[in-house]
Amino acid sequence: MSNFSGAIVVTGASGLVGGELLRRLMRRHPHLCAFVLVRDPGRWEQTVRRHGLPRHRTMPISCDLTVAGMGLGAVDRARLRCTTTIVHLAADTSFAQSLPSARAINLRGTQSLLEVAAECMSLRRFIYVSTAFAVGCRTGRILETESTRVRGPDGVGGADGAGWVNAYEQSKHEAEWAVRSSGLPWVIVRPSTIVCDDERGGVSSRNAVHRSLRLLRAGLAPMLPGAEETPVDVVPNDHVAECLARIVTDPAETGRTYHLCAGAGAMPLGELVDRSYSLWSRDPAWRRRALPRPALTDLATYRLFESTVHLGGDPRMRQVVGSLSHFVPQLAFPKRFDTAAAEAATGLSAPPVTSYWERMLKHLLPGRAASRQPQPAAQPSAAA
Ligand SMILES: NC(=O)c1ccc[n+]([C@@H]2O[C@H](COP(=O)([O-])OP(=O)(O)OC[C@H]3O[C@@H](n4cnc5c(N)ncnc54)[C@H](OP(=O)(O)O)[C@@H]3O)[C@@H](O)[C@H]2O)c1
Repeated sequence: MSNFSGAIVVTGASGLVGGELLRRLMRRHPHLCAFVLVRDPGRWEQTVRRHGLPRHRTMPISCDLTVAGMGLGAVDRARLRCTTTIVHLAADTSFAQSLPSARAINLRGTQSLLEVAAECMSLRRFIYVSTAFAVGCRTGRILETESTRVRGPDGVGGADGAGWVNAYEQSKHEAEWAVRSSGLPWVIVRPSTIVCDDERGGVSSRNAVHRSLRLLRAGLAPMLPGAEETPVDVVPNDHVAECLARIVTDPAETGRTYHLCAGAGAMPLGELVDRSYSLWSRDPAWRRRALPRPALTDLATYRLFESTVHLGGDPRMRQVVGSLSHFVPQLAFPKRFDTAAAEAATGLSAPPVTSYWERMLKHLLPGRAASRQPQPAAQPSAAA
C-alpha cells in the first residue's frame, strides 16, 4: 500500500469505527497526522490508550457538531485548512431518537463540517460515512451507482418503499444529499450494521441487533417481520475499518458510493433464527424452556401484533415491542446490497455472515460483558 502522508481531519474518532480506522492508518503510514475533532476528551483519551495511538500524530481539537460553527475557535478552524482529506464519522447512531434530534447531529452537523471543508483550499476528498440503510424502506437490489433521493413521509416509512424505518436512517439519507450537493469532492461510504469486531466474533459495542437477539433468546420476541429468505446483512468492524482505511489512502475518483456490506454473503433470516436456536439449545436450561420458533410474518400482521401488545397492558411486553419497533421492521423491506464498486476499490469482500455468526452469539451469552479491549489482529482484512 502506498505511503500516505499529510494531515487528515477525522470526526467520530472515539467511536467504534473511528478508533479502529485511526489505529490502522497510524500504524501503516508513519508520516500521516490527524486532526481529531473530539467532543468528549475523556472518551478520546480512552481511545488513544485502547488503540495505542501516537499522541504526537493525533491532535485532538475540541468540537461539538450540534453547536454553531461546531464550537471551533478561529485558530483551530485555520489549522484545519491545510487538510487534504476529511473523514466524517461522527453521528448519533441511536435508532430510537426523534427526527429533530437525529437531524441536529447527523444532518446539521454534517452541513457545518461541509462549511469548514469548503475553506480547505487543498481538499481532495470529503469522505462521508453514511449507512447502507440510508435507503430506508427500499427493497430489492441496491446499487452503488444509483443515487435516488427518497422522498417519503418523515419518520416511519410506507409500504411502497418510500420513507424510513427510523429517524436515524432518514437523517443519514438527508446528510448524504447535503454531501452530494455540496460541490466538494465527495465519497460516500455505506457500511452495513456492525455486529462484531472481526470473524472471531468478539463484540466491543452492543447495538440494536444484540438487544434483539437477547430478546429472542429470552422468548420475548414471538413474532418478527420478514420471510425465511429475507437477507440479513451485517458485517464485522474490521471489514469496515480496513475498507475505509484503503479508501481514505487511495486517490481514487470522487463522486463514488461504496457499500461495505455482506452483499451476497448476507444470511437468510430463517437460517439466522435456526442457527441461533441451535446454538442456544446447547444449554440444557434454555432447551428445557422449549421456546417456540418466532413466527415470521408480513409487516401488516406484525403491526397488528404490536398494537395488540400495546393495548394488552403487559408492561414488559410493551417495552420489548417498543424497543424492537425502531429496528426490526427493516426486515420487512428485503434488500440485497451490491458491493462490486467497494470490492473493486478495496480488493476486499466482507466475510459471509455464516462464517462468524455462532462465534458472535457465544460472545453474547450471559456473563460475557462487552469490552473495547483490542485483540490481536485476525486475518486477512484485520492486518494492520
Ligand atoms: N456501528 C454501526 O453498526 C454502523 C453501521 C453503519 C454505519 N455506521 C456509521 O459509521 C459512523 C461511525 O459509527 P460508530 O459505530 O463508530 O459510532 P459510535 O461508536 O456511536 O461513535 C460515534 C462517534 O460520534 C461522535 N459524536 C457523536 N455526537 C457528536 C457531536 N455532537 N459532536 C461531535 N462528535 C460527536 C462520538 O463522540 P463521543 O465519543 O464524544 O461520544 C463518537 O466518536 C457513523 O456515522 C454511523 O452512522 C455505523
